[in-house]
Amino acid sequence: MRLDYLISKGKNLSRKETRRFILAERVSVDGQTCKKAATQLAGGEVVCLDGEPVSLPGDRYLMLNKPLDVVSATRDDEHATVLDLVPRELRRDLHIAGRLDRDTTGLLLLTSDGQWSHRVTSPRSQCDKTYRMELAEPCTAAMLAQLRAGVLLKGENKPTAPAQVEVLGDRQLRLVISEGRYHQVKRMLAAVGNHVNNLHREAIGAVHLDPALAPGEFRALTLDEIDSLG
Ligand code: URA
Repeated sequence: MRLDYLISKGKNLSRKETRRFILAERVSVDGQTCKKAATQLAGGEVVCLDGEPVSLPGDRYLMLNKPLDVVSATRDDEHATVLDLVPRELRRDLHIAGRLDRDTTGLLLLTSDGQWSHRVTSPRSQCDKTYRMELAEPCTAAMLAQLRAGVLLKGENKPTAPAQVEVLGDRQLRLVISEGRYHQVKRMLAAVGNHVNNLHREAIGAVHLDPALAPGEFRALTLDEIDSLG
């Protein structure tokens, strides 16, 4: 994790303020003044601002392998929610950074840090989302070209941003999109005359679903994973 990230999170400062403090020689790492905001910390160093130790507050950052038929919501009267998969003691303030449909599986991020989840999901950050899918029909060259160029979704007047498309098999596709419109992947495929039978999210930005996680399992994000999205 970068030094400026730790200080801005730990002391609730903007990155700009943090860099100013670092340049003003107010920050030390293991007792030595450090003037480089980009210094990489391995973990375990004693970082001080004006002689006061800085540590990350108790926010939680989790990745979960969302199973089928579980709702991406914190409450639902009818179905199990993803929060039901997390122990009660971790649930306080936990919310979802980028929902998935009930019939979509794969990578879901949960956090108690509202600013971080805002950065992950804000249209301005244009964070890539990678999906793998099984389709009802093979994709024609024309369909692939449309997906890559951007398609007009039903009921909208602005085409989707260009997507990266990789053909994985006869009816299998990998799609990388940077927007997060409502049911976007299914609507994009519908717009080109196809249909998504199964949808699975593999990655958000550089954070990939950990293959060690069975459906319904979760783990804490590493500091690098948190930093890469925040
Ligand atoms: N696009 C969809 O259509 N559904 C999802 O769950 C995620 C992206």
